Amino acid sequence: MSMTDRELVDLAFAMLERSYAPYSGFSVGAALLCADGAVFTGCNVENAAYGSTICAERTALVKAVSEGRRDGFVKLAVAGRSADYCWPCGACRQMLWEFAPGLTVLVARGDRDFISLPLSELLPHGFGPKTLEP
Ligand code: THU
Repeated sequence: MSMTDRELVDLAFAMLERSYAPYSGFSVGAALLCADGAVFTGCNVENAAYGSTICAERTALVKAVSEGRRDGFVKLAVAGRSADYCWPCGACRQMLWEFAPGLTVLVARGDRDFISLPLSELLPHGFGPKTLEP
């Protein structure tokens, strides 16, 4: 049986426990679903050199790519504890576009409500591999 959006969002919320965010105090969790049902999870991992921080979404994505996945990404859920929806940052939108321009993104807020929207709406006219073609 395939995973529901609610279940994927809940996996993203579970990752808040693993978040390492001593500087911002802003924990983020993510869960990336593949077509075959595999899920790669991630959390934000901050650093004393603040700019070296990696976001939850990119953690999930690089875990997947480093395990040999390059396509078949279907949905990504991202969750935070704040009142507003935890919108993916620009760098994460760009990194996701590289591998999954057709991705659906589930964006959750602290009360666990979430919005589903296409990555193409979060990153219109994205720059990707096709752009580099001569
Ligand atoms: N953060 C994410 O994990 N994902 C995003 O898309 C936005 C920001 C993290 C980075 C940093 O650890 C904290 O949220 C505050 O910016």
